[in-house]
Amino acid sequence: MMPALRPLKPEDVEVLAEWEKKQRPYPWSKKNFLDTFHSDRHFILVWEVVMGPRGFVAIQKTDGEAYILNIMIDPLHQKKGWGTQLLKMALDWCRENQVKIVKLDVDAQNFPAINIYQKAGFRIDGARPNAYPRGETGYVMTKNLD
Ligand SMILES: CC(C)(COP(=O)(O)OP(=O)(O)OC[C@H]1O[C@@H](n2cnc3c(N)ncnc32)[C@H](O)[C@@H]1OP(=O)(O)O)[C@@H](O)C(=O)NCCC(=O)NCCS
Repeated sequence: MMPALRPLKPEDVEVLAEWEKKQRPYPWSKKNFLDTFHSDRHFILVWEVVMGPRGFVAIQKTDGEAYILNIMIDPLHQKKGWGTQLLKMALDWCRENQVKIVKLDVDAQNFPAINIYQKAGFRIDGARPNAYPRGETGYVMTKNLD
């Protein structure tokens, strides 16, 4: 059976913000993570293993629609198929929460991310020039859930 995702806990924030700092061009701060505790539309779901968090996914949910704000695997443990598995778990969570359509934006140069999204059945709906602060192009990707 696939492990379940659990909600973010305040004690996760330190380690997740460290991952962000190591790898992301526009890293989420501890405050960004903590702010989601005050929102009823934002869900940060953590994939926990014995050693602690292995990855997380941040989802914004409105009626029938979800937007994946972020998905990340521990930088020391990427390229082992876990991002693919985490995305599957996130889509299962969406189905269980009556989501019919999932959307996201991704940097057009973020090949590992685009790869896992396409494998999960997301399609590129369009490109947005200057989507990010340094002028990077973004792709808008969408998947309908059965
Ligand atoms: C995106 C992310 C979650 C993927 O996690 P992961 O555990 O490495 O993913 P997987 O191992 O399941 O799959 C990655 C795929 O990308 C491929 N890949 C990795 N680097 C690549 C590159 N530079 N160019 C092309 N493909 C690449 C891998 O071969 C693999 O594909 P395969 O399964 O067909 O071989 C991870 O890279 C991450 O946390 N990145 C930082 C956060 C981020 O950018 N999130 C996306 C926000 S939109």
